[in-house]
Parts: sequence; structure tokens; C-alpha cells
Amino acid sequence: MLKGVAENAGEFYQHYPRAATIVTVNSNGRKNAMAVAWHCPVSFKPALYGIAIAPKRYTYQMISESRQFAINFMPYEKAEKIAEVGGSSGSFTDKFTEFNLSEDHPTKLDVPILRDAYAAYECKVIDDRLFGDHAWIIGEVVAVHMARDVFKENGILDLNLVRPALYLGGETYCSGDRESIQVYDREKYGKH
Ligand SMILES: Cc1cc2nc3c(=O)[nH]c(=O)nc-3n(C[C@H](O)[C@H](O)[C@H](O)COP(=O)(O)O)c2cc1C
Repeated sequence: MLKGVAENAGEFYQHYPRAATIVTVNSNGRKNAMAVAWHCPVSFKPALYGIAIAPKRYTYQMISESRQFAINFMPYEKAEKIAEVGGSSGSFTDKFTEFNLSEDHPTKLDVPILRDAYAAYECKVIDDRLFGDHAWIIGEVVAVHMARDVFKENGILDLNLVRPALYLGGETYCSGDRESIQVYDREKYGKH
């Protein structure tokens, strides 16, 4: 592998693949959904989840108003839905109607849960800070929705049953290859 070094991160695609998710929000009875690839868990106890949202997104305004959001983890077969909600703005389009987004009921907050998602978190905003051109919004996970049958007993997603939508940057999506699974026990491989 021949490596080079650049001082400017440019398109900043090297950290992909990442799961391509859909963040949903409801503010004053108006619902919206946007594609989000920049997201990350930040704490077990309490369960905290962070999303990076550019303040110019309509969704940002809605999350600031309602102080809640849901993050929906989508199967690879629904990657087109991710491009639909990531390619249009809620300030012009009612994406739930336009893209036929079916919903399940939230249990704790007033946030849309996508029926097509294999898992989703209801999150209550506890922090929102600007870093460069994105806001890092941290939500406390107050409810976890999941299709129980697609997760194994150890909690790990069964790639035989669901392949997650992953994003490679630009307009490119892929999925987890079930043939590539390897299990390395850290107790055995780590030095104690
Ligand atoms: C795959 C994909 C991932 C994206 N990830 C993010 C992200 O992490 N943060 C962000 O601010 N915008 C992201 N976007 C862009 C927004 O989804 C897009 O600007 C959307 O139209 C915003 O909708 P809104 O104006 O209704 O909020 C992404 C777009 C795509 C297609």
C-alpha cells in the first residue's frame, strides 16, 4: 500500500464506511427526516448518542425547538430512502408524505420512528455545541426500538437476517459482507 500525506482533509472521505442513518424530528406537529452519517455513541451510563448536524439544515432548527430526535438504523435495501431524505429539505418538502415514510409509535418522546428501520433510539437533547460547520448534538437515549429477531442473543446484529446500510461518501452505499465476519476474543488476544 503506497501512502501519501495531505495537509488539507478535502472531501474527508477516508473515515468511511459508516452506517447511513435517518434522523427524524417532530416540532410543533411538523415532522421531518434527514440522512445522517456522522453519528456516534458517547456513553453507556447514561446511554448517550451524538449526531453532527450542520446548523443550516432545517432539521437542526427543528431539533433546537423540540429538544428531541430519533435516530433510525436502516437496512441496505432502503438506501434509496436515505438518498431521498438526504437530497431534499423539509423547508420545502413534506418528506413523510412525499417519500411514503411509514411510522411506528414512539414510547417516550414525540419523535417519528421509521417502520423500515431495524433499530431506532428516541433521544432527549442534553447538549448542543457548535464545532466548525456542524453542531454536535448529544441525546440521552430514553427508548430503544429494535427488531428483536434480527439481533443474536449476544446483542450483535445477525447479518444473515439484516444487512445495514453503510455509506462510503459521495452518493455511494454498500453493506456489511456476512462472509467477512471474524470473531477475536479480546481476553485471548489482549496482553494481561
Ligand atoms: C448519506 C448522507 C449522509 C448525510 N449525513 C449528514 C450528516 O451527518 N450531517 C449533516 O448535517 N448532513 C448530512 N447529510 C445531508 C442532509 O441529509 C441533507 O442536507 C438534507 O437535505 C437535510 O434535510 P433538512 O433540510 O430537511 O434538514 C447527509 C446526506 C446524505 C445523502
